[in-house]
Amino acid sequence: MAGSVPLPQHLHTGSHDLPVSAELAAFMGTGWEERALPADARVPAREMTPARRDRLSARFPGERLLVPAGEVKVRSGDCDHRFRPHSAYAWLTGLTGEDQHGHVLVLEPSGPGGGHEAVLYIHPRPERASGDRTFYRDRRFGEFWVGRRPDLAEAERLTGIRCVRLEGTRSLPPGRDAVSDPVLAAVLAELRLVKDPWEVDELQRAVDHTAAGFEDVVRALPRALAHPRGERWIEGVFGMRARLEGNGTGYETIAASGAHACVLHWTRNDGPLDPSELLLLDAGVESDTLYTADITRTLPLSGRFSPVQRRVYELVLAAQEAGMAALRPGARFRDFHRACMGVIAEGLADWGVLKDPEGDRHRRYTLCGSGHMLGLDVHDCARSRAEAYLDGVLAEGQVLTVEPGLYFQPDDATLPAELRGIGVRIEDDLVVTADGARLMSGALPRTPEAVEEWMGALLGG
Ligand code: GLY
Ligand code: MN
Ligand code: MN
Repeated sequence: MAGSVPLPQHLHTGSHDLPVSAELAAFMGTGWEERALPADARVPAREMTPARRDRLSARFPGERLLVPAGEVKVRSGDCDHRFRPHSAYAWLTGLTGEDQHGHVLVLEPSGPGGGHEAVLYIHPRPERASGDRTFYRDRRFGEFWVGRRPDLAEAERLTGIRCVRLEGTRSLPPGRDAVSDPVLAAVLAELRLVKDPWEVDELQRAVDHTAAGFEDVVRALPRALAHPRGERWIEGVFGMRARLEGNGTGYETIAASGAHACVLHWTRNDGPLDPSELLLLDAGVESDTLYTADITRTLPLSGRFSPVQRRVYELVLAAQEAGMAALRPGARFRDFHRACMGVIAEGLADWGVLKDPEGDRHRRYTLCGSGHMLGLDVHDCARSRAEAYLDGVLAEGQVLTVEPGLYFQPDDATLPAELRGIGVRIEDDLVVTADGARLMSGALPRTPEAVEEWMGALLGG
């Protein structure tokens, strides 16, 4: 093309890393001491994973199953997003680290009885003495770049699973794949619906750290209020707690002040805080074992609810109480949502916002469902079949959120001016018990009076 610069046949591209001389390469290959992992190192879920794999195995006799950890995703240029393994892989192997990218768990059919042998295809710790430069040159696998990774024998001890070297994904045998095969994905999601006691403990730990993070946020309010991007201040404060106590946040923190609270997943968090407004904080710590909490509190930034804020808050709270009371084994998953929505619709009709509580016009102001399963994923087990989840019945050991909300958009001409721009969600985490449900997030206050008292105590009166 006229005027364009001809491209050379061979582009020499590279990052800012300098080339390695033969002398340096030889030097780097020698003189290292052994540094083994502790002989008793085990993944925390080691005792639980064999039974989980057995339950999966029983569903697919004679079929090879592949459960990938997933691949790193480029953020931009030569930088990657932080890696977090797929939940099904973590659940079946107990491996939860950033170093798991590319790894694949294979359940290999073994014998006529229909069982499976688990085999982990992994990238083991690269050799140092063989001339392999990976350990000091490779940004994704080199231990001088990303840290120590186990060798094959160490990985077997950690997991109790036979480990083999992954020679590229094309070397994997064909089989059902947990990401692309909807049947395997659904079975894996449904197997995770009921949590074992160890998982409930991990979730409780995540909830407790999340409660501490909410306290951090309240203590930080004076400085956040003074900053032009106060929502970011709050996100940062909670994020610090999440990284200190666990793997990070289980989802992007929603720090929504004023009318931003009417945006369900407001994660831009770039607004200021106005002391006359509410703050909707929806945040969860994800444990090192990758279980996440999911809690929302809507707080008056002045420390006191105004009369109209309190009125909206109390209606949402009443809806949440009704929803939580509907949780028990054998209840339909939709029952607690219906209970929440009944209270909301009645309340809106009492206020004259709705002409009558029948029908689904209230959904203009509630926008989404009233809760979901919680576990390794914030919206846990989302690939389950409807008959096992959305249209199914609850069972002991399931962990759910109950999170009704009212979102009065600032430009909603159906509403009186005083309601516009108010958004309230109250979200708690519960585990279904033999005869009801246990509130896991009860450490955080829920009534307006308790919220005000709690904020007052944290803010020093
Ligand atoms: N934080 C997302 C949700 O509450 O579902
Ligand atoms: Mn939430
Ligand atoms: Mn939620």
